[in-house]
Amino acid sequence: MLLTRAFGGPNEAALVARLHADGAAAIALVACIGGAVAGHILFSPMIAPMRAQALAPLAVAPEHQRRGIGAALVRAGMARAAAEGCQAVFVLGDPAYYRRFGFSAESARGFASPYAGPHLMVAALVGGNLPVTTGEIVHAPAFSAL
Ligand SMILES: CC(C)(COP(=O)(O)OP(=O)(O)OC[C@H]1O[C@@H](n2cnc3c(N)ncnc32)[C@H](O)[C@@H]1OP(=O)(O)O)[C@@H](O)C(=O)NCCC(=O)NCCS
Repeated sequence: MLLTRAFGGPNEAALVARLHADGAAAIALVACIGGAVAGHILFSPMIAPMRAQALAPLAVAPEHQRRGIGAALVRAGMARAAAEGCQAVFVLGDPAYYRRFGFSAESARGFASPYAGPHLMVAALVGGNLPVTTGEIVHAPAFSAL
């Protein structure tokens, strides 16, 4: 419901359902306001030349946007991923939003992926630098249904 409202369609909710069904939800966090879910973020495992996860999707209920909930979910999820030994997080999204968290499309340019392009970004979780800057990355199979 939250995902459908935030994205204006069912695709991202279906992605989340498939990731959970496939056992590919590595980190899933929700933000609650007054007992209702106001935001949601999910990280899934990836095949990559370093320990990496994919951030997707991120959604905040339209009536709760622009209050920092999205940023809090991204930062909490990345901190959790780092604590679990993850070295990098990839995201597909708008650079104008994600660059504030350290994501860079430039840094992702060396990685081969069907999603390669200006919207594929990566952020290092350890020491500010990626341990590897080239290679192939493969998202969880659920993404191919998008
Ligand atoms: C993108 C989204 C998660 C941001 O959540 P949020 O809680 O509103 O974000 P925050 O409060 O942390 O940050 C708000 C800032 O992000 C900016 N912002 C929001 N969406 C943006 C976008 N697509 N591109 C650039 N900036 C964006 C806002 O302008 C605002 O900037 P300001 O602080 O300078 O005013 C939310 O708008 C959303 O759910 N959108 C629909 C779904 C979506 O597009 N998800 C992201 C793709 S995975």
